Amino acid sequence: MTKTMLVTGGAGFIGSNFIRFVFEKTGFKGRIVNFDKLTYAGLRGNLSDIERRFGPKRYVFIKGDICNFKKVNAVIRKYDVSVIVNFAAETHVDRSIHGPREFIETNITGAFNLLECARANWKNRKDVRFHHISTDEVFGSLGKTGRFMETTPYDPRSPYSAAKASSDHLARAYFHTYGLPVTISNCSNNYGPYQHPEKLIPLALLKAVDGEPIPVYGDGGNTRDWLFVEDHCRAIWVILRRGRPGETYNVGGNCEKRNLETLRALFRALEKLKPSVKNQMLKGCRYEELITFVKDRAGHDRRYAIDSGKIKRELGWKPRFGFSEGLEATVAWYLAHGSRLKKTVAASYRAWLKKNYILR
Ligand code: NAD
Ligand code: DAU
Repeated sequence: MTKTMLVTGGAGFIGSNFIRFVFEKTGFKGRIVNFDKLTYAGLRGNLSDIERRFGPKRYVFIKGDICNFKKVNAVIRKYDVSVIVNFAAETHVDRSIHGPREFIETNITGAFNLLECARANWKNRKDVRFHHISTDEVFGSLGKTGRFMETTPYDPRSPYSAAKASSDHLARAYFHTYGLPVTISNCSNNYGPYQHPEKLIPLALLKAVDGEPIPVYGDGGNTRDWLFVEDHCRAIWVILRRGRPGETYNVGGNCEKRNLETLRALFRALEKLKPSVKNQMLKGCRYEELITFVKDRAGHDRRYAIDSGKIKRELGWKPRFGFSEGLEATVAWYLAHGSRLKKTVAASYRAWLKKNYILR
C-alpha cells in the first residue's frame, strides 16, 4: 500500500498501536495522517518515536475534532487521503453513564461527519476505503451460552454502545445508499500497552503495583472476551487489504473470562515480573487481597463473546497471542512506563474518579 491513510483517534490506545503496527510490521510504504482531538484519552507522546522516525514525510499529526467538517475536509484534500480508519470515539462505558453528551457528539455526529467528508471527496472512486472501528457491545448482553455473530441483531444497552451502534448503522447506510466502500469491524475487549488506566486491566495493574484497593463491580462474574491489541491491529490490516466493501467482520480472542478470572490471570503475570513479597507497597499482602467489591455499574452487561468464524474463514485471520503471553507483555510494558503514564493522566483521571464513585 502506498496511499495516504487518515487514522482518526490515532493518539489513543488502539489507534496508536495500529499506527505503530502498520509502520513496523506490514511493509506499508505510504503516509499516515493521525487526526486526533487529544481528549483526556489521547496522548500525542504515545507515538513520539514514530513521529521522530517517520515524520513529517510519512507520518503527520494533526490536532482536530472529527465533528469539524471543514477541517476534516481540508485534510482529506491536502493529503489526498484514500483510506480512512475511524478509531476516534469516546470509549469508556462508565463515563458514558455519567455524561453521555460527548458520546453522542463524537461517536455519532463525528462518524457521520467523516462519512460525509469521504462521500464529498471520493464521489464514485473505487480505489478508496472507509473502515469503521466498532465494538461487540452493540450486540447487547449474552446469557450463559451463545456468541455474537455478524448477523446477531443490535441491542445496545449503554449510551456508549448505543452511540457506537448508531455510527455502525450510518456507515452501512453510506455503503448501501451512496456506494461508499465501507467495511466495519466489531471487536471484543482489547488489552495491551498504551491503554488508558481507566479500563479494567491497566487500572488493576497499576493499583496492584501501588498496593491500592482494586474495585470490582458487582460480584465480579461479568464476562468479557479478551484480545491482545496487536491481534486486533492485524485484523484491521487484513480487512483493509482483503475485506469486501459493505461487509462487517466480528473480531474476538476466543478468550472468555469472568472479571475475577481476568484479575487472577493478571496477578499471576505480575507475580512473575514483580512478586508481591518483594513489593514493599503491599506490606506483606498478596495482590489478590487488594480486590474490593464495589457498587455495580448501572446496566452492567453480563457477558460478551465473539464468534470470529467469518474473518477466519474469509480472510485467514486468527489471534496469535495467548492470554498469559499477552498479559505478561502488558505487565512488562506498564512496569516500564506506568509511572509516566500515571503522571500524565493522573490529574484529569483522579478528578473524574473523585467526582464519580470510585474514590470516596
Ligand atoms: P481511547 O479512548 O483510548 O482513544 C480514543 C481516541 O480518540 C483518543 O486519542 C481521543 O483523543 C480521540 N478522540 C476522541 N474524540 C475525538 C474527536 N471528536 N475527534 C478526534 N479524535 C477524538 O479508545 P480505544 O480504546 O483506543 O478505542 C478506539 C476505537 O476502538 C473506538 O472506536 C472504540 O469504540 C473501539 N473499540 C475499543 C475496544 C477496546 O477494548 N478498547 C474494543 C472494541 C472497539
Ligand atoms: O467490549 C469492547 C469494549 O470493551 C469497548 O467497546 C470499550 O470501549 C472498552 O472500554 C471495553 O468496555 P468494558 O466496559 O468491557 O471495559 P472496562 O475495562 O471498563 O470493564 C471491563 C469489565 O470490568 C466490565 O465488566 C466492568 C468491570 N470493571 C471495570 C472497571 C474499570 C470493574 O469491575 N472495575 C473497574 O474498575
